[in-house]
Amino acid sequence: MSATGAVRAHGVVLGIETSCDETAAAVVVAGREVRANVVAGQAERHAPFGGVVPEIAGRAHVELIGGVVADALVEAGCTLTDLDAVAACRGPGLAGALLVGVSAAKALALAAGCPYVGVNHLDAHCEAAWLEDPDLPAPFVTLVASGGHTLLALVEAPGALRLLGETYDDAAGEAFDKVARLLGLGYPGGPEIDRLATRGDPSAVRFPRPVADDRLDFSFSGLKTAVANHRRDHPEVPVADVAAAFQEAVVDTLVTKLVAAARRTGVRTVTLGGGVAANSRLRVRALEAGEEAGLRVVLPDRALCTDNAAMIAATGFRRLRDRGPDPLTGGVDPAARLGG
Ligand code: KG4
Ligand code: ZN
Repeated sequence: MSATGAVRAHGVVLGIETSCDETAAAVVVAGREVRANVVAGQAERHAPFGGVVPEIAGRAHVELIGGVVADALVEAGCTLTDLDAVAACRGPGLAGALLVGVSAAKALALAAGCPYVGVNHLDAHCEAAWLEDPDLPAPFVTLVASGGHTLLALVEAPGALRLLGETYDDAAGEAFDKVARLLGLGYPGGPEIDRLATRGDPSAVRFPRPVADDRLDFSFSGLKTAVANHRRDHPEVPVADVAAAFQEAVVDTLVTKLVAAARRTGVRTVTLGGGVAANSRLRVRALEAGEEAGLRVVLPDRALCTDNAAMIAATGFRRLRDRGPDPLTGGVDPAARLGG
């Protein structure tokens, strides 16, 4: 670290992510090169409740964080003394869950004698594309679709993010989880519906495409109600067909808006982030739509789309370079907005 707060060009950053129900730690060099990316999921602890229970998530993070950090350091072949900084997700997310990661990161930074930096989870999802392609030229448009958020952002440069549109109600991942529950599938619902839909007919039912005008915003709560009503009125329709038709409606909406956002901003490159970006149908449809519209579509590896700490470490490196470290008195921001 220099007096201005600038980090070494090849700085080694330990990232920590505990905003929801994944306990994750990663080591990233120079904000681009992933040396370790460890994630301990807690899905089985929340599954009996059909969704994330904040109290259980906080306790599980406390239990898991030590081992996950140790695994990441071993995998990266480094010790605390090799670290140039420790970054943690400071929000948005569950307050109790965020506190575990931020507190651990501050303690580790203190022990390692290096700076601490807090990172916005949404910014990190937007910038994860640079871990897939370090030379990806900005500007580009990113669709972030996760369990807690669905938004479109223009990434003008590292750290220069502009919100183009977001969901009015449920996030896309939340809709997957709620519909999966309605269909009697397990939690988390996204991967379950993704798997089941491969055996279903997406044209069996025509579910509504919400906000089907030129706005870049989303709404998924009506779609969930439409599926509930359809189940009640047509219980004979195979569950796989309903899952495939629901998924098609969500994917159709996401892809249409992504292409519209590229057209509106004049960018030629689009990327995906967030847990829903792991959806196989979304990945195929985004590539097809991109080809049709003459857009380059960058699909980060699934492990970089779902919650992970590599994106936190990479964004932490960039923040540290541009703005310097955060004080150890810095708190969490459960309601942080993009760029906040
Ligand atoms: O980004 P993420 O890991 O955590 C949040 O920040 O929310 O996203 C989790 C969400 C869950 O709602 C999960 O059901 C959804 O992403 N998801 C998927 C798939 N994999 C995870 N949704 C659709 N298809 C998938 N393959
Ligand atoms: Zn996320």
